[in-house]
Amino acid sequence: MDAVFVIAVGTAVLLVMVVFIILFVAYYQQKQAKQQLAFKELQERHRREIMAATFKGQEAERKRLAEDLHDGIGTMLSVTKMSLNQLERHINGNTTMRVSLQVQKTRSMIDETMTNVRRISRDLVPTTLERFGLLPALEELADRATDTELEVHLDCPTSIANLPSALALMLYRIAQELVNNAIRHARARVITIQLYYLNSEIRMSVLDDGVGFDFDAIMENKQGGLGLRNIESRLSVMDGHVTFDVAPGRGSQIHVQVRVPSNIPVMVASSL
Ligand SMILES: Nc1ncnc2c1ncn2[C@@H]1O[C@H](COP(=O)(O)OP(=O)(O)OP(=O)(O)O)[C@@H](O)[C@H]1O
Ligand SMILES: [Mg+2]
Repeated sequence: MDAVFVIAVGTAVLLVMVVFIILFVAYYQQKQAKQQLAFKELQERHRREIMAATFKGQEAERKRLAEDLHDGIGTMLSVTKMSLNQLERHINGNTTMRVSLQVQKTRSMIDETMTNVRRISRDLVPTTLERFGLLPALEELADRATDTELEVHLDCPTSIANLPSALALMLYRIAQELVNNAIRHARARVITIQLYYLNSEIRMSVLDDGVGFDFDAIMENKQGGLGLRNIESRLSVMDGHVTFDVAPGRGSQIHVQVRVPSNIPVMVASSL
């Protein structure tokens, strides 16, 4: 009887211990999983903060460069042009045809350089975006890219205002990169920028009718450009997505989607 009692108690104690160990292991595993999740979230937050700081630094550097270009080189070019005009007035009448042609050529080279400096400064700092917002800035981007060989359209059925400035800047930089890509690589004749606001989300697409490309092959090439990778990094800072609907031999369609924080009242009015 005693032996049976001892065995029963022993078994019970053993069972309790087993249950306790199982519960302990389950609790420990759950705790570890929670810690891992928290660690991953922290890592992701850090990554975003670093990305955001990188892009902020990039914008500040662009601003500095644009100012230096405008104030330094732009001013110097204006002074050089004035000096050339004075020189021309001095030698007027006492010079050969060859020299006056040379003066004219020099002046048009200065003019061309001034135009280029202005264009580069404008590309570096989107002043229209800062002053008037995303739509006028995209309109300007489309107008500037349009020429005899290429049409660039902005298709935006509703006017969208009051976007947070960081979001507007990000969308503008993405549009700028995609339009530049379509011009440089696609040999496109028509490029369309579409912009919609739907269900608290901004959707922007850039479509071209060019030669297309093999997205996977391009992304595997570590020596390749930075533009497309930067788009993904920029969007990841704001929880956005990009979809590349592209293939060799047909026009490319690149779609960007980003949620606008719900506490921001985006103003949408029908038709521009
Ligand atoms: N719209 C497009 N049509 C055809 N090919 C494209 C298009 N966009 C990108 N590509 C191809 O994808 C490649 C990578 O583009 P990405 O913007 O990342 O780099 P990049 O334009 O070459 O250089 P970067 O943007 O750094 O100046 C391009 O070199 C080009 O071959
Ligand atoms: Mg590019």
